[in-house]
Amino acid sequence: MAKQIGILTAGGDSPGLNAAMRGLGKAAIRTHGMTVIGFRDGFRGLMQNRFVRLQSAELSGILTTGGTVLGTSRDKPHKMDVGGKVMDMTDLMIENIKGHQLDSLVCLGGGGTAKNAMKLAEKGVPVMTLPKTIDNDLWGTDTTLGFDTAMGIATEAIDRLHSTAHSHHRIVVVEVMGHNTGWIALGAGLAGGGDVILIPEIPYDIDAIANTILERRAAGSTFSIVVISEGAMSRDDAALKEQARSLKKSEDPDEVAKGRESLDRFAERRQNHTATLACSLEKRTGLESRVTILGHVQRGGTPSPTDRLLATRLGTACADFIARGDSGAMVAIRDNECVPVPLREVAGRRKTVPLDHPWLLTARNLGVGLGD
Ligand code: F6P
Repeated sequence: MAKQIGILTAGGDSPGLNAAMRGLGKAAIRTHGMTVIGFRDGFRGLMQNRFVRLQSAELSGILTTGGTVLGTSRDKPHKMDVGGKVMDMTDLMIENIKGHQLDSLVCLGGGGTAKNAMKLAEKGVPVMTLPKTIDNDLWGTDTTLGFDTAMGIATEAIDRLHSTAHSHHRIVVVEVMGHNTGWIALGAGLAGGGDVILIPEIPYDIDAIANTILERRAAGSTFSIVVISEGAMSRDDAALKEQARSLKKSEDPDEVAKGRESLDRFAERRQNHTATLACSLEKRTGLESRVTILGHVQRGGTPSPTDRLLATRLGTACADFIARGDSGAMVAIRDNECVPVPLREVAGRRKTVPLDHPWLLTARNLGVGLGD
């Protein structure tokens, strides 16, 4: 009997989601004769059984479009806000999956989605995931959908900031996304010729950054571009976070309370951290500083050719894996091959930038300041 599959997109949107659904849907229908439906707005739509049949017409004309035609949300099946109350709605979702007689539920998402899919798999749901996030922080895959596009947008911004920084002899601090990893900052920082690149994996010392800038000035460069990942932090902040975390794990309630206080202090210090950094650099170097925060612009618009190709390959491979009976896996790209990786290996693990990563070694060879 022909298989039926359901698709949903969850978590933050990302360029390439529509291209992936198109690849998956077209291969499922054309090559494998499957029926495809899409649930609206992530796991919320699955809970509410809001769906649309995806046929050739719905899958056409979306290769180049940004966002997700299905809509998305950050809802978790086991922690749903329902009328102001947080509830575990997993069983209702499973009923809906059974009602549609789905042979597979394909969830396109990042780390959170992998965890949620894993929980469904543990309850017997035949589930697959596709690795989507601009942050590139999913364990088990060489790269993720949306990362190349976001890196391209950030690189273009750095290119544009160069000419204005150069003209005004300023420091420009540009904050990029990346959650708790530095892939976008490092990739775009290198591609755009950033002078300092700050990533969460390397807590920074403000004096080291100021020195890099002062050395550049002494060598005749009167401007500097500092690319900072949104999750990057100073050594002091990193120590505060670590201390708070270990206190919170304590058996002693007083220690736990202290841990909570430290976390609140940490959160306060994190507010406007990029502006604070720019101010400190201005004071230390005497160079005027400006801040640019790229934000959600990095998630918008048309996917790059690399992301379209990746999305199409991952989507079509997913249809093939479902056809042969695979489930409980993320379709990853490894050494240029699409491979299923068990969700239990992926869920709950984050791919950070290894300190010996070739991009970091390249940055050091170039004399880029990494704040250490
Ligand atoms: O995970 C993708 C991402 O864009 C991160 O880089 C960023 O920290 C976060 O999502 C922003 O989330 P939201 O869209 O909910 O503000």
